[in-house]
Amino acid sequence: AATTRDFKVADLSLAAFGRKEITLAEHEMPGLMAIRREYAEAQPLAGARITGSLHMTVQTAVLIETLVALGARVRWASCNIFSTQDHAAAAVAVGPDGTPDDPRGVPVFAWKGETLQEYWWCTEQALTWPDAASGGPNMILDDGGDATLLVHKGVEYEKDGAVPDVAGAENEEHRVVLELLTRTLAESPGKWTQLASEIRGVTEETTTGVHRLYEMQRGGTLLFPAINVNDSVTKSKFDNKYGCRHSLIDGINRATDVLIGGKVAVVCGYGDVGKGCAESLRGQGARVIVTEIDPICALQAAMDGYQVATLEDVVETADIFVTTTGNKDIILAEHMARMKHQAIVGNIGHFDNEIDMTGLAKLPGIVKDEVKPQVHTWTFPDGKAIIVLSEGRLLNLGNATGHPSFVMSNSFANQTIAQIELFTKPDQYPTGVYVLPKHLDEKVARLHLEALGAKLTELRPDQAEYIGVPVEGPYKPDHYRY
Ligand code: NAI
Repeated sequence: AATTRDFKVADLSLAAFGRKEITLAEHEMPGLMAIRREYAEAQPLAGARITGSLHMTVQTAVLIETLVALGARVRWASCNIFSTQDHAAAAVAVGPDGTPDDPRGVPVFAWKGETLQEYWWCTEQALTWPDAASGGPNMILDDGGDATLLVHKGVEYEKDGAVPDVAGAENEEHRVVLELLTRTLAESPGKWTQLASEIRGVTEETTTGVHRLYEMQRGGTLLFPAINVNDSVTKSKFDNKYGCRHSLIDGINRATDVLIGGKVAVVCGYGDVGKGCAESLRGQGARVIVTEIDPICALQAAMDGYQVATLEDVVETADIFVTTTGNKDIILAEHMARMKHQAIVGNIGHFDNEIDMTGLAKLPGIVKDEVKPQVHTWTFPDGKAIIVLSEGRLLNLGNATGHPSFVMSNSFANQTIAQIELFTKPDQYPTGVYVLPKHLDEKVARLHLEALGAKLTELRPDQAEYIGVPVEGPYKPDHYRY
């Protein structure tokens, strides 16, 4: 490979450390490594130009190098301003065979602590392929949908011939996106339409990004096929749940080192993420209270032994608050004003609109102070302070290192398989949103059992016939919920 200076990371001298952690992670990611071996010869992603927008962590480095091992070329940005692990980004930029003086890796544009301007610049760089005729990728791998959103917005403005209304932006991030679009629309007219025309599809990692895709599908604006990776069982029922069970308290501990045992913790939302979060807090000895709007999830929480209450009723007595809803305006400024001294407030949902940080900043007389990066106290005029983690953004990636390798191996095995599906079988996926077939979901699970020393029972033919499934699977109908 040619030497490239086409990247931006915090510090290339961290590459050796990053490489060591990537090597350790590879052993903990048996699914991804098995896929590398399976497709080493076939090179199904040869010709793919993948733009990735997903937390630039050690685990993501193993994903990126798997895509490259399958023949793809890759450009990458993180999908959150605080989630990059700088040593992982450096190692990916340098590449397995390069050195900091001679980087030969993947163009990665990501560092921990980007401004919003830098974040969207990085996303734009990942989407810009200088040597491609269309100027862009032919595949997107997204987490939360920001790369997909930028392309769709660009095409929308080009179609309408409208000029983005920067002055009318809803918030700072919206303004940054509108400014970026204004610039690109003026600099290279038709850029986004041309770029979109070559994109075969997107594979989307998370609940929030998947919501956006189904909305575009319903609205008739979706431009290319999408695979909803989140709703593979081996993704959402593992990463969202067991991943958060690990990384939520990792984030709280690294940020505050407060003893969780004996405290009262409120988990807002009891979906997959909320279930993992509640369990981890209970595991530390906290008394956990759940808030929900969905009666089914509320009943699940109650039967799992949690108190189910409204935030209003418990806001003054709880010690730790975590939002997991993927919804907006869950913890408002008025809630935070009522909290106890040194209550801890954090969010693990995808976007930073679950906690009303804008409203908090506007409270009269409030003072924000940085304890350390991604940990701030907000002191009210009466002297009471609350502790806010990662400025209301994903605390497990902002204050800790996200989910551990083994669970991400499941998610990223689904991502890799989804990329292969969309890239190699475009005829089978007309524009729309799909989930991977169940036999592939079961395959991902199988790839991880051996590493845990688990021995699967083999279904006998007469038993298979009795329950009406093939001996080799799939073992459940699509409506089964696990
Ligand atoms: P989900 O849809 O399974 O769960 C969300 C739950 O919140 C639902 O049960 C819903 O009824 C509830 N909810 C909605 N509005 C509410 C309100 N006002 N008050 C209380 N509860 C409310 O979604 P999932 O998969 O649990 O994901 C949640 C969020 O976490 C999404 O934004 C997703 O993208 C993100 N995510 C973050 C991860 C991380 O590592 N930080 C990992 C996986 C997902």
